[in-house]
Amino acid sequence: MSRDILILPGDGIGPEIVAEARKVLEWVNERYSLDLVLHEGLVGGAAIDAHGVPLPDQTLQAARKADAILLGAVGGPKWDKLETAIRPEKGLLGLRSQLELFANLRPAILYPQLAAASSLKPEVVSGLDILIVRELTGGIYFGQPRGIRTLDSGIRQGYNTYVYDENEIERIGRVAFEAARKRQGRLCSVDKANVLEVTVLWREVMDRLASEYPDVELSHMYVDNAAMQLVRAPKQFDVLVTGNMFGDILSDEAAMLTGSIGMLPSASLDRNNKGMYEPCHGSAPDIAGQGVANPLATILSVAMMLRYSVGSNEAADAIEAAVSRALDAGYRTADLAEAGVSSVGTREMGQAVLDALAEA
Ligand code: IPM
Ligand code: MG
Repeated sequence: MSRDILILPGDGIGPEIVAEARKVLEWVNERYSLDLVLHEGLVGGAAIDAHGVPLPDQTLQAARKADAILLGAVGGPKWDKLETAIRPEKGLLGLRSQLELFANLRPAILYPQLAAASSLKPEVVSGLDILIVRELTGGIYFGQPRGIRTLDSGIRQGYNTYVYDENEIERIGRVAFEAARKRQGRLCSVDKANVLEVTVLWREVMDRLASEYPDVELSHMYVDNAAMQLVRAPKQFDVLVTGNMFGDILSDEAAMLTGSIGMLPSASLDRNNKGMYEPCHGSAPDIAGQGVANPLATILSVAMMLRYSVGSNEAADAIEAAVSRALDAGYRTADLAEAGVSSVGTREMGQAVLDALAEA
């Protein structure tokens, strides 16, 4: 049975890193006879330029039809002046919400070869393996009402709404408990229950779920403390579960522990494990078009796609092992290279992974 893969390169470094990930995907497609059919589409600023909107109908239709989506990154200074409703980011957020991709999995794993690239001491991060489970279609990102209004006093006021209902909390909680069950069995739920009612409810629902998962040890942590613990003693964590905005922030922080945000892949899944796969980093307009961006987070996102949406652990393992061998061989993009050490570009890193695949 053939499967449809929609590729959305997006903006900034998106097209460069996705080109390398696509080569890797094509290679494993052949080698493991996966029967994947690849299509490309426009999203974000690229779609605004071509069609005037960040998420054109044809892209949304293609995304609905696809079995999985690979996305690069969206956004850039060119579109920064647009109002929030039609910014490139709305393309990404629209896909997440229209396809109900509520479960965002962001694994932060330290490759031993990169211990020196982390901003923390090697002994603090060596062996690091954390999974952040971020709620992706609710919370303050989507809450209504929202906007900027002018008060009677003439002063303008910006406002957003932080809201979660029990069902939304429960479904992300279940994903996190299930994930913890397959790992070390420890789940830390991150909230701000000392201040925000919405997270008082969050905590209550997580506690209720815990009785159904007696094999998982649940703990709770306030988000400010979690941010601190991530840089103080990150290895205390196995799985973290949190809301949309806290997850956005903590996953960037966790990424840096692994040496570079250029290493962090992600999967955004619906209730049937249909997914969109993207690197956690953004479109990096400052280095776009220079051929220096790190393609590994996108290549590792392909591995996650093969594991979760295609069901080929074999191909996923092969890609992850090839990334590790490319690092063993000393290949480093600029974000990973230690001072004074020469680095390779996007294409060389992609080629190093392809070579490692072919040699295996
Ligand atoms: C991410 C990004 C997005 C987010 C932006 C680009 C809208 O930062 O995937 O973490 O905030 O979710
Ligand atoms: Mg982010």
